[in-house]
Amino acid sequence: MSSQAKPPGAESVTVAALRARKPGGPKITVVTAYDVTFARLADRAEIDVVLVGDSLGMVMQGQSNPLPDTLDEMIYHARAVVRGITRAHVVVDLPFMAYATVDEGVRAAGRVLKESGAAAVKVEGGIEVAPLIARLGELGIPAMGHVGLTPQSFHQLGGFRVQGRTDAQKAKILAGAKAISDAGAYAIVLEGMPVSLANEVTASVPIPTIGIGAGPGCDGQVLVMHDLLGLDVAWSPRFARRYAELGREVEAAFSRYAADVRSGAFPAEAESFK
Ligand code: KIV
Repeated sequence: MSSQAKPPGAESVTVAALRARKPGGPKITVVTAYDVTFARLADRAEIDVVLVGDSLGMVMQGQSNPLPDTLDEMIYHARAVVRGITRAHVVVDLPFMAYATVDEGVRAAGRVLKESGAAAVKVEGGIEVAPLIARLGELGIPAMGHVGLTPQSFHQLGGFRVQGRTDAQKAKILAGAKAISDAGAYAIVLEGMPVSLANEVTASVPIPTIGIGAGPGCDGQVLVMHDLLGLDVAWSPRFARRYAELGREVEAAFSRYAADVRSGAFPAEAESFK
């Protein structure tokens, strides 16, 4: 067991507690985090679930999609996140090609739990990942599903496009969500789909749905922390809401610091040792 892994305490958000939120709420709150500082702040804010998403490659490394993320990178960041958590549930994305077969997925998920101390993994896909989710369940590894706009299928989808607008896509998403739920997933992310479809999926499965760009009818919501905090000064996706303008604040703080260093105003006497 990782030195960071802690048994869930009385206050900890467990898989059972999350499942019990459906039906009837309260809604499940999820944000991404990739380091100890933001994980600690999310935990203190009583966010229920911290997701170490494979958005990592895009928001932390400047990649244009999540395909280059590696399992080692996910574990490295998950370990840091777990160190900042006292009560929230931590779930980690298995990256692209880490679960092309059930055996590979089992090995990858095992490494995530053992080496980071996180409580669960998330996998993208529908019917095709159901056998992996079932096997993980047999091994005691909770799995979250993810259907709709699945960023790891970026090339196949032709980019980050809303899914479920055609009858074929809609049927695939509904069947995928059912298969994942039947296989034992404890929750499903619904990403980038029409509100009506998200509502239909939510009504059709007994496990909580966590929406992102899927409207208000889901059992919970997830946002990438950079979008929520306004860390990118120039851009945010249409479905996100900016609850802060940290990008602008950080830039202004860096500018003020640089000006103070240049003028000699920093450090002052109080910031110096006699
Ligand atoms: O990687 C990620 O951050 C995610 C969320 C957007 C759901 O999967």
